[in-house]
Amino acid sequence: MISIKDVRKVFPSKQGQLKAVDDVNLDVKEGEIFGVIGYSGAGKSTLIRMLNGLELPTEGSVTVAGRVISKIKGSELRKARQEISMIFQHFNLLWSRTVSENIAFPLEIAGVGGSERQKRVKELIHLVGLEGRENAYPSQLSGGQKQRVGIARALANNPKVLLCDEATSALDPQTTDAILDLLVDINKRLGLTIVLITHEMHVIRKICHRVAVMESGRIVELGQVLEVFKNPQQQITKRFVQQVTEPEETKETAEHLLERYQSGKVVQLSFIGDSVEQPLITNLIRQNNVTVNILQGKISQTQSGSYGTLFIHLDGSEQEVIKAVDYIRSQQVGVEVISNG
Ligand SMILES: Nc1ncnc2c1ncn2[C@@H]1O[C@H](COP(=O)(O)OP(=O)(O)O)[C@@H](O)[C@H]1O
Ligand SMILES: [Mg+2]
Repeated sequence: MISIKDVRKVFPSKQGQLKAVDDVNLDVKEGEIFGVIGYSGAGKSTLIRMLNGLELPTEGSVTVAGRVISKIKGSELRKARQEISMIFQHFNLLWSRTVSENIAFPLEIAGVGGSERQKRVKELIHLVGLEGRENAYPSQLSGGQKQRVGIARALANNPKVLLCDEATSALDPQTTDAILDLLVDINKRLGLTIVLITHEMHVIRKICHRVAVMESGRIVELGQVLEVFKNPQQQITKRFVQQVTEPEETKETAEHLLERYQSGKVVQLSFIGDSVEQPLITNLIRQNNVTVNILQGKISQTQSGSYGTLFIHLDGSEQEVIKAVDYIRSQQVGVEVISNG
């Protein structure tokens, strides 16, 4: 759906040439939710703005939905942009227009007639859950509602691609989750390809299928979200992953846990992908003569499965405890025995 080939973007600056995007190659598949994460100044916005022709690459080519965006201009580009819409951190709504009028705006520009326009606005209001707020002005809306208007407006002309530039960065965590749920819903229902950029790993974890990590204009790591969480390669990626893994999961606290027990073993389980924690624990107890105490842990859901860590204490005869650990190992769960009690 999207193909970025050998793309560079250089801005002139007082200190000479500034390479905002540096030799990026990237393909995004149809129907995918693709995330780009990086710190401020990494070049994320410049990259995403090249996908709808708001910026032109200095070198290389950008193709979206069969059109070479980096080559076309004028009316052809305007037409292409109806298929590649965008939402923003600060919503970019028209403040003197109501919710309905904001959503109708791109339809007016596309020349959609009155009654059809009204019908479409109604559908969009329903899709994003803004019923009852049709006649409100943006200043009367909460942040989450404003972004819902932004999303409805972006979807008005049935785009193939939705670009999200820090779309939840101005929202509180609960509202962020509601907007992310809406994006997943839209992705599933409409088969829309979504490219989002963010500096928050929570956003990537919650909704993306694949992620690219950007640093100084370059993509330094790319992969399936679950894989990147499980096995981050670059230092910067490890720091991003740490944003969403809890500090309790460190070895120090694991060692702290040991002090509580005189017998048995404390075992750290690492879940990844399809291995779901609940049946494992149930079967562990059913099939082995051990007692199991869940000490602490955190299991997070991603779009392609769960991952996380769980600390448990196993007690029983030495033989039974060894058998239980072997059983866990056979279940495709990472096992590390922290202690011998
Ligand atoms: N229009 C511009 N003119 C000059 N420099 C720019 C322009 N847009 C972005 N930059 C610079 O390019 C770099 C990347 O910016 P940006 O793409 O906005 O990063 P991000 O979105 O990851 O924070 C920054 O150093 C920024 O100052
Ligand atoms: Mg930005």
